[in-house]
Amino acid sequence: MEQIHVATSSRPYDVLVGAGLLDHIGELVRDVTKLGRCCVVTETNVGPLYADRVEAALGAAGLDVVGRITFPAGEASKTLATLGGILEDLAERELTRDDVVVALGGGVTGDMGGLAAALYLRGIKVVQVPTSLLAMVDSSVGGKTAVDLTAGKNLVGAFWQPSLVVADVDALATVPPELFRDSCGEVVKHAVLADADLLDTLTAHPLTESRGAATLVDVVARNVRIKRDVVVADEREGGLRQTLNLGHTVGHAIESASDFSLGHGSCVAAGLCVIARGSAALGWCSVQTAGRIERCVAAHGLPTSTELPTDLLMRYAAHDKKRHGAAVNVVVPREVGRCEVRCVGLDDLRRLIDLGR
Ligand SMILES: NC(=O)c1ccc[n+]([C@@H]2O[C@H](COP(=O)([O-])OP(=O)(O)OC[C@H]3O[C@@H](n4cnc5c(N)ncnc54)[C@H](O)[C@@H]3O)[C@@H](O)[C@H]2O)c1
Ligand SMILES: [Zn+2]
Repeated sequence: MEQIHVATSSRPYDVLVGAGLLDHIGELVRDVTKLGRCCVVTETNVGPLYADRVEAALGAAGLDVVGRITFPAGEASKTLATLGGILEDLAERELTRDDVVVALGGGVTGDMGGLAAALYLRGIKVVQVPTSLLAMVDSSVGGKTAVDLTAGKNLVGAFWQPSLVVADVDALATVPPELFRDSCGEVVKHAVLADADLLDTLTAHPLTESRGAATLVDVVARNVRIKRDVVVADEREGGLRQTLNLGHTVGHAIESASDFSLGHGSCVAAGLCVIARGSAALGWCSVQTAGRIERCVAAHGLPTSTELPTDLLMRYAAHDKKRHGAAVNVVVPREVGRCEVRCVGLDDLRRLIDLGR
């Protein structure tokens, strides 16, 4: 098992990455939360697969499981209405400040359970138990939680660090292969940000083809360390944390312009390649760097480009949340393992996209 300590100033906690951890989750949670009561928050796909096991392990360690809250799986559930229902359920079970929410599922569940815990009684403990690759390498670490509004994704939320994260890579066995592939986009992004060795290893042995437990534990743990280092340096996204948006300015534009028909990770992968090629064309990184990034994306069967016209992409990219007046912050790879945030005018962004497409 790998243990990664996340020393955020608001709450330090550990991320545990291993195989077979779900059956021991009771002891792991008890070590951190003491003998409180706990309530599992999950959704309709993951709950039937893993919630019985998790609740049995919690009970066996002497924790009092006061029920399970299950909401319909999928992004469509990430609403204030679903959140309200979860909060009412927590109150009905009379959870107190000493008790703990166990969020069991993918990134949607992590956001829902995390935000419910942040708001209920002005904040109770949450243990994140990510079951998707994206949730393990990205969303369960760092304490960002949110729900969507009609106006856009993740517009209402809170920073609320978990008390513990337990990532059991065995749970990835039931993740649909296409979703697993999609999430590899964020894994490649992390490697480009901070781990050149990981990028080359992934290119030679794509995660989509080597899903053994030891490999998964190693890759997930390396990803968690990368995200940890950024989050600890900049918990509330003042500066450095923006580098995690690598590939996302163009990725979000592709996602919106294609009406969310392409997965988020695939859009990020394509966005990463567009930015890398554009950066190479503008002399911000070498052609070799762009090629290295592209090869890793391609090895995972993810898109390295987009057919969407620059004008359409610009329409969405110019509305990016990270926009500041007539300029947008774009994360640029200088070389593999070293990226920087650049504030570029909209004309330069258009050139970057046009050259990179
Ligand atoms: N808070 C953050 O920092 C952060 C960061 C990145 C993404 N996110 C959010 O995460 C969400 C995307 O995460 P996701 O891809 O995990 O989405 P998700 O939670 O919807 O999971 C994707 C699908 O996989 C299923 N699933 C999950 N684990 C499974 C398993 N072990 N076996 C079988 N099926 C399983 C789910 O039921 C769902 O159908 C988005 O809402 C995004 O906004 C949050
Ligand atoms: Zn992302």
